[in-house]
Amino acid sequence: MSAESTIGIIMNGVSGRMGYRQHLVRSILAIRDQGGVTLSDGRRVQVRPILVGRHEDKLRDIADRHGIEDWTTNLDEALADPRWDVYADFLVTEARVPAIKRAIAAGKAIYTEKPTAGNFQDALELARLAKEAGIKNGVVHDKLYLPGLRKLKRLIDDGFFGQILSVRGEFGYWVFPGDGVPAQRPSWNYRSEDGGGIVLDMFPHWNYVLENLFGRVESVYAQTVTHIPTRWDEKGQAYAATADDAAYAIFGLAGGTIAEFNSSWDVRVNRDELLELQVDGTEGSAVAGLFGCKVQHRSATPRPTWNPDIPDGHDYAADWHEVPLTQEFENGFKVQWEEFLRHIAEDAPNPYDFLAGARGVLLAEKGLESAAKGARLDLPEVTA
Ligand SMILES: NC(=O)c1ccc[n+]([C@@H]2O[C@H](COP(=O)([O-])OP(=O)(O)OC[C@H]3O[C@@H](n4cnc5c(N)ncnc54)[C@H](O)[C@@H]3O)[C@@H](O)[C@H]2O)c1
Repeated sequence: MSAESTIGIIMNGVSGRMGYRQHLVRSILAIRDQGGVTLSDGRRVQVRPILVGRHEDKLRDIADRHGIEDWTTNLDEALADPRWDVYADFLVTEARVPAIKRAIAAGKAIYTEKPTAGNFQDALELARLAKEAGIKNGVVHDKLYLPGLRKLKRLIDDGFFGQILSVRGEFGYWVFPGDGVPAQRPSWNYRSEDGGGIVLDMFPHWNYVLENLFGRVESVYAQTVTHIPTRWDEKGQAYAATADDAAYAIFGLAGGTIAEFNSSWDVRVNRDELLELQVDGTEGSAVAGLFGCKVQHRSATPRPTWNPDIPDGHDYAADWHEVPLTQEFENGFKVQWEEFLRHIAEDAPNPYDFLAGARGVLLAEKGLESAAKGARLDLPEVTA
């Protein structure tokens, strides 16, 4: 941190979906425009970004639009410059490991998107290298900061569920193949040779959601599939979709809870939100989405009786009650950035580090292996 209490941040990949919208605009520029982050002793620390990317014109355009003074196409130059304290990575997954290794060698603190690497060995190596170098490191855990999941966490902490028996995660929506209606996601997501696939994309999220809310993931059984084998890219060219675009998985958790997650880019939504988690416990149940969370307590549980001869007129949806909003939730990426900046500035806690990132990559790797073998696999505990 420089003398005038400004944290300089190298932002690599700001032309991408996540880099631009969530990390630059919604997080770092929002923090800059509010005058920085406040530390526990009341001091404020400001942020100063430098944009890094491969295309000068894109960087200049973003910098001009947002009043950012610094940008460069030369990552090594930025890494060698002591004005920049943090290296932040929002690149395509395939490009991440070599870039982070350069940042570790340069002694920068590092904050990165997930997955931290395309395979567990690389992810663990990053955690070990960062530890050896003594640098601070953090990995995006954005789903934990969603209002719906924060309400769910409060219910868990309050003991609302009694013993938690099962968790059912339903995630997905229809991603257009790209012929006609353009696809909503970058085409590299559908090519395994480019680091794509729904398992590598989503299982790291499921790992941190499960281990922080319900218990460590101890085993996985998954079936993966490429439902749609041909898609059309950003230029309208047809390409072979080589990566899994749906995964159907069962996770065994420490303590005995069973978690079952469907992840698919090939489903049409018939839910309230694109991600929903149903949690059933002995004392009550909840269904949490990105924003909402509804509950049904044991004392208000109806008594359904199976009878295929009589149409069931009971309104099951009416038996659930929305958990009220009791506090304002800011953008989750921004909140996690603020926590990471406090970690840099005053050593505030940061449990979401490269080792946590590596556990997420391990779950993805074991999920793919389980699908290939048709077997349930145990997950070892991960230590650096
Ligand atoms: N946390 C979340 O919810 C979430 C959501 C989507 C994506 N992601 C992750 O964020 C990362 C970026 O995804 P995205 O959807 O923004 O992708 P994107 O394709 O929109 O952006 C990728 C960025 O990487 C750059 N890039 C591409 N190839 C490169 C290369 N070979 N070398 C250097 N730079 C390169 C691009 O110019 C662009 O700036 C991925 O790792 C993805 O898994 C996270």
